[in-house]
Amino acid sequence: DVTRDFLRALPKCEHHMHLEGALTPAVLFKLAKENNISLPSDDPAFASEATLKQRYEQFNSLDDFLQYYYIGMTVLITASDFEALAWDYFEHAAADGLVHAEVFFDPQAHLSRNVSYETILQGFNAARTRAQREFGISSELICCFLRHLPVPECEATFKLEEVQASYKRGDVIAIGLDSSENNFPPELFKSIYADAKSLGLRRTAHAGEEGPAKYVEDALDLLEVERIDHGIRLAEDPKLLERVAKQGTLLTICPISNVLLQCLSGVAEVPIRKFLDAGVRFSINSDDPAYFGNNYILDNYVAVQEAFSLSRHEWRTVCENSIRGSWCSETRKEEML
Ligand code: HPA
Ligand code: ZN
Repeated sequence: DVTRDFLRALPKCEHHMHLEGALTPAVLFKLAKENNISLPSDDPAFASEATLKQRYEQFNSLDDFLQYYYIGMTVLITASDFEALAWDYFEHAAADGLVHAEVFFDPQAHLSRNVSYETILQGFNAARTRAQREFGISSELICCFLRHLPVPECEATFKLEEVQASYKRGDVIAIGLDSSENNFPPELFKSIYADAKSLGLRRTAHAGEEGPAKYVEDALDLLEVERIDHGIRLAEDPKLLERVAKQGTLLTICPISNVLLQCLSGVAEVPIRKFLDAGVRFSINSDDPAYFGNNYILDNYVAVQEAFSLSRHEWRTVCENSIRGSWCSETRKEEML
């Protein structure tokens, strides 16, 4: 039988987790106070930690969540704030039996508040180094672009000297695309993705979370992504599903996120069985754990097990596919397998 302990012991990789999504209400209020950041006084949700947690239980869409996500991150100012945020995540990840993390961050949401790119990276890198040393967790950073912002602003951020330098140093190994999906199709970001490819960066994009399967297809064809974040609506297009299976493109699935943002009515509606039967590779991830009921990676594994009763063999396959779909060295993959 597959228990929580069995799932904890599996060599798990996480590929879809926004570090800003590790900001708990407790840390949000603490940093707001320390950094003298005022929170919206016209929204009763910000009255206390308890009311904010309650509000987080009532998200009705991706955009409804994003509004709180962007307000929350305004409390992040210093490198030590970013370090504490990432460290909080790595502590949970270690307790859950995570071995490797490829995590997103949203520089545009900080640069716009005059927080420098170096400040963000300094904090995240300090936590990553410590997680490697103390927990043996390896990690990589994925720089995400906010698709609801004007494309020229995204392109300008991609081209910033300090951002380019982080690619060259290898501090950032990949780019991603997140935020509001509908009406912000992949094709808008062709130029950034073409540049990223020529720099040798790995490429992924959120697609098919709220948006149609067509966005998954366009992300593959127009952006040449190597992974798809979410991609659940791929289940609606059998031909595309077959293509993704054949290509071996990894989907980074976030079951609890999909339910709490009302993309799906329950974890049982995540097309896990369909993907397994079709040979579509996927990993299971937490997305924004502090906003989604404090559910980290192991909680997502357990939720999938409760809904699908996978066999031990199937779980080993999920983890093997996650390792093979990671963007670490082949040596590191062999260690994890
Ligand atoms: N989708 C889009 N943007 C996001 C998400 C997500 O799941 N989480 C944080 N930003
Ligand atoms: Zn996401």
